[in-house]
Amino acid sequence: MAEFTLPKNSKIKGKGRDHKAPAGATRVKKFKVYRYDPDTGENPRYDTFEVDLDSCGPMVLDALIKIKSEQDPTLTFRRSCREGICGSCSMNMDGRNGLACTTAIEDVKGEVRITPLPHMDVIKDLVPDFTHFYAQYASIQPWLKTVSPEPSGKERLQSPEDRAKLDGLYECILCACCSTSCPSYWWNSDKFLGPAILLQAYRWLADSRDEMTGERLDELEDPFRLYRCHTIMNCANACPKGLNPAKAIAETKKMLVERAV
Ligand code: SF4
Ligand code: SF4
Ligand code: FES
Repeated sequence: MAEFTLPKNSKIKGKGRDHKAPAGATRVKKFKVYRYDPDTGENPRYDTFEVDLDSCGPMVLDALIKIKSEQDPTLTFRRSCREGICGSCSMNMDGRNGLACTTAIEDVKGEVRITPLPHMDVIKDLVPDFTHFYAQYASIQPWLKTVSPEPSGKERLQSPEDRAKLDGLYECILCACCSTSCPSYWWNSDKFLGPAILLQAYRWLADSRDEMTGERLDELEDPFRLYRCHTIMNCANACPKGLNPAKAIAETKKMLVERAV
């Protein structure tokens, strides 16, 4: 269950470090970045970095890479593709979860405050611990499951209409922006699967080639795993890929109701 008392070392304490822009910079933007290194035994703090936008790319990730290269090489964050495909750079920027590589600096008015995804354990700085999230993903067995032999040893075909049913589902990059903006997931993530994993679960329920629909529904029919979703819709607002996990959850509930009658 959720803990309602924060551990002592989770509270922001002490003045962070200030890193000034180089002399002569004319278009300066401030980035206030959450810093936490468990190896030091110190509480988290916010460091402030002044970035010269005239020598920086347009996205928040560009600024973080510039800060790491030029001001503080110890700043730690995840990134890979730089184009919204890998899901690595999810973080909270100015109070909203999103991908740093697709969030434009100019869309954030004033100082840019950056923290890790909310309600996750922090490994270091902007890097949350995804161990539990990935274990939940593995629990829904995210692969095609069949019992019938493949037709004449060939691939299993799918009609264009059935393939279209996966649109809005297969695009999920498992960034966890949705799950970490869901109040139900904040308080019950030990048992509730959360919007990202439930969207992935529905992706296999909706696949015409999968032959384990009944077993998959049995696994989901649980007061916590699925039914902790109360249709608050934060997940759909947070998704940087424009997906709607709440709709996928509603479709799953509908399948459960339909099979019961
Ligand atoms: S709709 Fe459900 S899964 Fe999405 S944020 Fe709300 S409670 Fe969470
Ligand atoms: S549904 Fe959207 S926000 Fe949630 S994990 Fe997938 S891509 Fe990220
Ligand atoms: S770096 Fe891959 S999604 Fe941002």
